[in-house]
Amino acid sequence: MSSTSGRRQAGLSVRDAGKAYGEVEALRDCSFDVAPGTIVSIVGPSGCGKTTLLWSMAGLHRLTAGEIALDGKPITGPHPDIGLVFQEANLLPWRNLAANIRFPFEIKRRKPEQDWIDHLLDRVDLRGFEKHMPRQLSGGMQQRASIVRALSLRPGVLLMDEPFGALDAFTREEMNRLVEEIWLETRTTIVFITHSIEEAIFLSDRVIVLTPRPGRVLSDYRVDLPRPRTIETMASREVFDLMNAIKADIYGLQTRKAAE
Ligand SMILES: Nc1ncnc2c1ncn2[C@@H]1O[C@H](COP(=O)(O)OP(=O)(O)OP(=O)(O)O)[C@@H](O)[C@H]1O
Ligand SMILES: [Mg+2]
Repeated sequence: MSSTSGRRQAGLSVRDAGKAYGEVEALRDCSFDVAPGTIVSIVGPSGCGKTTLLWSMAGLHRLTAGEIALDGKPITGPHPDIGLVFQEANLLPWRNLAANIRFPFEIKRRKPEQDWIDHLLDRVDLRGFEKHMPRQLSGGMQQRASIVRALSLRPGVLLMDEPFGALDAFTREEMNRLVEEIWLETRTTIVFITHSIEEAIFLSDRVIVLTPRPGRVLSDYRVDLPRPRTIETMASREVFDLMNAIKADIYGLQTRKAAE
């Protein structure tokens, strides 16, 4: 099977999304689109509603206002076309790596596409570890396994919530390169949440900055850099300026808020 066969890309639109948890308003009037086949990162101060937004995109949280649509159809619950990767790999500790990857197929009563899974395992350098239990894998390996698990289902959209937040800086950079490599092959639409502005710029076609809670879009930057991105690209003037602009957005707002 060609690795690109069955390539699927979906688009997302977030329209006036609002979410309140009782008194706490996490999101308000949040609107943006994610074009099919692009990587969009979302950054913003802690507690501004990023996870809330991602869970709503995944159909795991109900919005209290507005709508999120996948290819024009409102998302009302968990969707087979949407893959999720969290900060924790969430592998089942009593199942080996192969059985962990098979797990979502068992739940969905779908036959695993073994060729595609093997290809993905190759891609992330996990071939030969199929029989290992999660505790026998490093944090980075577990996270790579969870990416394979999500991509093995060929989702139209992959949602990632600080997937590398728990990894050391070196492993994190490796993982960033890996995500870009896989994306260059699959062109799966990716929404990526991170606290690292550098990671957001490295990976993305667009970086969206949210305001402090209630989160809405403060700014939206295009990242027009050639791929694959290199150490030289990341050391360019363009990236330096972009990094500073995003930092000014995030910290500027916080300073203003603190001064009120
Ligand atoms: N299940 C919940 N019940 C009640 N309040 C919640 C719930 N989930 C989130 N909140 C509140 O909503 C706000 C936004 O939380 P959220 O987790 O979406 O922020 P975040 O931007 O992901 O933060 P961080 O960067 O720290 O991960 C916070 O004030 C939080 O306390
Ligand atoms: Mg969060």
